[in-house]
Amino acid sequence: MSKPDSLNPPGTLDASGVPATSVREEVINRYKRHVNRGFAGLASVLGLPIGARSRGCFVFDEQGRAYLDCGGYGVFLHGHRHPLVVEAVKAQLDRHPLATHGFLNAELASAAERLAGVTPPGLDYITFTNSGAEAAELGIKLAHVNGKPRLVAMQGGFHGKTMGALSINGKPFYKDPFKPLLPEVDFVAFGDANALEEVLAASDNRACVIVEPVQGEAGVNIPPAGYLKRVQDLCRRHNALFILDEIQTGLGRLGTWWGADREGVVPDVLLAGKGLSGGVVAVGAVAATAEAFEPLNRDPFLHSSTFAGNPLAMAAARAAIDAIEREGLVGRAASLGEMLLRDLRTILQSACRDLVVEVRGRGLMLGVEFISEAVAGDFVLRLLQERMVVSHSLNAHRVVRLTPPAILAEAECEILFQAVENAAAGLRKAW
Ligand SMILES: Cc1ncc(COP(=O)(O)O)c(C=O)c1O
Repeated sequence: MSKPDSLNPPGTLDASGVPATSVREEVINRYKRHVNRGFAGLASVLGLPIGARSRGCFVFDEQGRAYLDCGGYGVFLHGHRHPLVVEAVKAQLDRHPLATHGFLNAELASAAERLAGVTPPGLDYITFTNSGAEAAELGIKLAHVNGKPRLVAMQGGFHGKTMGALSINGKPFYKDPFKPLLPEVDFVAFGDANALEEVLAASDNRACVIVEPVQGEAGVNIPPAGYLKRVQDLCRRHNALFILDEIQTGLGRLGTWWGADREGVVPDVLLAGKGLSGGVVAVGAVAATAEAFEPLNRDPFLHSSTFAGNPLAMAAARAAIDAIEREGLVGRAASLGEMLLRDLRTILQSACRDLVVEVRGRGLMLGVEFISEAVAGDFVLRLLQERMVVSHSLNAHRVVRLTPPAILAEAECEILFQAVENAAAGLRKAW
């Protein structure tokens, strides 16, 4: 299969017959006037295309050009608009998209049961959210309401950009302008269980540890083997609440259902998001043990949100889980990931060895660390010219992340390799 431009005639006119370049300028102008002036300037300089439509592994720009989507901040494990999810969402849309809240919400109950069925054992209580950050907020609230307000977070870690989530963000740049944030937060080095032990030993049994199984925005940081197990043991020993943020890593992204599975750990609270959308509707979730959730079981109005758990998002979440199971996406993420990591290493080693510090990854969460932020940025732009989308890392600009869909076929892997090879050859000449 070649690049599927043929799916979409590559005309230079948009649907209403306006030249595509002026459509793009119009959009940038609207951004400038009504969305964000700084971002408009950036988009203009970088030549960012408009995302006009999407299907499977590809996103199409305003001129009908197809881009292999290995970016999306890690959302598109199913690719875009997975047919099973689209079908479920369309049916729900025609029936009852938003809850009135005076009634029971059967879709919510069923999606909660479905998610609890695939999370590690004992995480029986599910609260859905509208975003990942909102899930992190609820995680922090559960810590407080369980008497564990001393938050222990990881250097470089990322949990969103709301005020609570920022308080545990491991990069000062994003949080300093918003201080004061939550008062009791300690940061320890990710992967260093001894450092964690020191902080927990002084925590007076009032701590809550929040950690990602593999750090995403910090640049695909993989901890030493046995680390999560030690984190769990330390939390038990010091009566700390253990929150595992699987918003980016969960639902198969790492080649296991959850990062927790690899070491058989069961946190008190697990956060999910991104892939739960099925590539169709935004949805996040918090899964908690009965014990951790007890304060909210006692008082159901301590936490609520108008749109969270809406039937449309619930239909998407349920179908997203069905699709992962039916299509064996977890196993595919494992085998594809292994192959991609091996071949990416080979290509980058031979094309631009001196510019690359490391190529690392687990499952379909892959990172290429370059010698500088400038080289990493150049690589992202060159890939875009090669019609491939990747993500920079919010908390580590030297690392370019590839988070391809688990539905990649062989032909699409070839497109990926060719794009990387061309972009890397360009880097070699330029730097
Ligand atoms: C580990 C982790 N937690 C939380 C979030 C925040 O999710 P959202 O952007 O949906 O608010 C992200 C987003 O990248 C993430 O990677």
